Amino acid sequence: MHLSRYFLPVLREVPKEAEIVSHQMMLRAGMIKQSAAGIYSWLPLGLKVLKKIENIVREEQNRAGAVEILMPTIQSAELWKESKRYEAYGKEMLRITDRHEREMLFGPTAEEVVTTIFRDSVRSYRDLPKNLYNIQWKFRDEVRPRFGVMRGREFLMKDAYSFDLTADGARAAYNRMFVAYLRTFARLGLKSIPMAADTGPIGGDLSHEFIILAETGESQVYCHKDLIEGAIPSADTDFDEDLSPIIKAWTSLYAATDEKHEAERFAKDVPADKQVSARGIEVGHIFFFGTKYSEPMGARVQGPDGQMVTLQMGSYGIGVSRLAGAIIEASHDKDGIVWPVPVAPFEVGLINLKAGDKDTDAAAEGLYDKLQAAGIDVLYDDTDERAGAKFATADLIGLPYQLVVGPKGVKAGEIEIKTRKGGAKETLPIEAGLAKVIEAVKQQRVLV
Ligand SMILES: Nc1ncnc2c1ncn2[C@@H]1O[C@H](COP(=O)(O)OP(=O)(O)O)[C@@H](O)[C@H]1O
Ligand SMILES: [Mg+2]
Repeated sequence: MHLSRYFLPVLREVPKEAEIVSHQMMLRAGMIKQSAAGIYSWLPLGLKVLKKIENIVREEQNRAGAVEILMPTIQSAELWKESKRYEAYGKEMLRITDRHEREMLFGPTAEEVVTTIFRDSVRSYRDLPKNLYNIQWKFRDEVRPRFGVMRGREFLMKDAYSFDLTADGARAAYNRMFVAYLRTFARLGLKSIPMAADTGPIGGDLSHEFIILAETGESQVYCHKDLIEGAIPSADTDFDEDLSPIIKAWTSLYAATDEKHEAERFAKDVPADKQVSARGIEVGHIFFFGTKYSEPMGARVQGPDGQMVTLQMGSYGIGVSRLAGAIIEASHDKDGIVWPVPVAPFEVGLINLKAGDKDTDAAAEGLYDKLQAAGIDVLYDDTDERAGAKFATADLIGLPYQLVVGPKGVKAGEIEIKTRKGGAKETLPIEAGLAKVIEAVKQQRVLV
């Protein structure tokens, strides 16, 4: 992409309305634009990041055996009356009336919709187990939307729903999502910690929140320090196998959110030098809730003995849009964002220090073509901005590698490579520099 043709409205000043660093940087880097309280447009740079996050989430859901669907954003209130949640959900639900005076709502979650889909199409235990997921916008009329996309009113969520014949089967489904979540967040460059959590309005009795430690997090959390560097299940984990040893390893050390915290047990079970009491960002949340929705909504299948069995269900959320902010909270410096390669909007920034100079333009265009041919996602700064402004923008938007091409270098047959993380700079012969950057990007595309 040529920057001169792109839409990248960067801000030099720190916007006053933004309290936390990720919100400030997303606005400054021209990733998002607020449209109303807690409601944002995603501008090109932000959208690229959002799509990359979404794709990693999708790949790991698919790997774990979940099947993608797409459910509507607008739902009928009838469904929520069936599950007896319509009144209980309260003011967070945006209620809408259509032209026929029918009560509708903008979905804050989709247990009811998916349970109906399943109930109306699956008859036999032979069709189980199944896990259906979608990545769709949700609306929750939060009292205090804040921190940009971290606590929005409209936000993108991956929500998966598992259906099983038995509670043991549902537990295995839960374990598959648990492992998928560990892998997903690690691939996004994050250290997530699964913590025992409250089930809230979704209901049920087994639940974990996946938390990223960050000072600006909204949750108070407590855990054993070793969990921060816990082992991530590999890409060839067999999801048909019993995954409980992995779950056991992760859950045998203490980790709980505020609501589930037991101060005495924490003090007793965790050595003093391993006690972490910190703030955290909830990036995912998984629940097993048994027959909470299947029972009132009549989602049953015929079991092996011919008897009708009420389905055992779980639901599994990931805050896809929140993750864009969470990754920045975890990875930035004073100059801007430091994107991990797998979610970087562009993997390489190519900076032309003297646009309009024939030789420099030719060298930069040549590099651009070669990077493109190598399958690298590159943003070419071909504008006539000053060098200082170009460097500042490249740092602010956090591109992992910057290739700098100037008239002097071109004469000497050299380019400068800057690694955004750590800021190391190196001058190399053009071809060698190019090869090095391509290699580095390819190596870091897959983190686990
Ligand atoms: N208002 C919000 N803005 C952005 N992301 C959200 C918001 N509410 C929830 N999420 C994300 O969606 C995931 C699933 O939501 P859920 O656990 O049902 O919501 P909550 O924890 O708010 O009750 C959360 O782990 C979080 O990452
Ligand atoms: Mg939650």
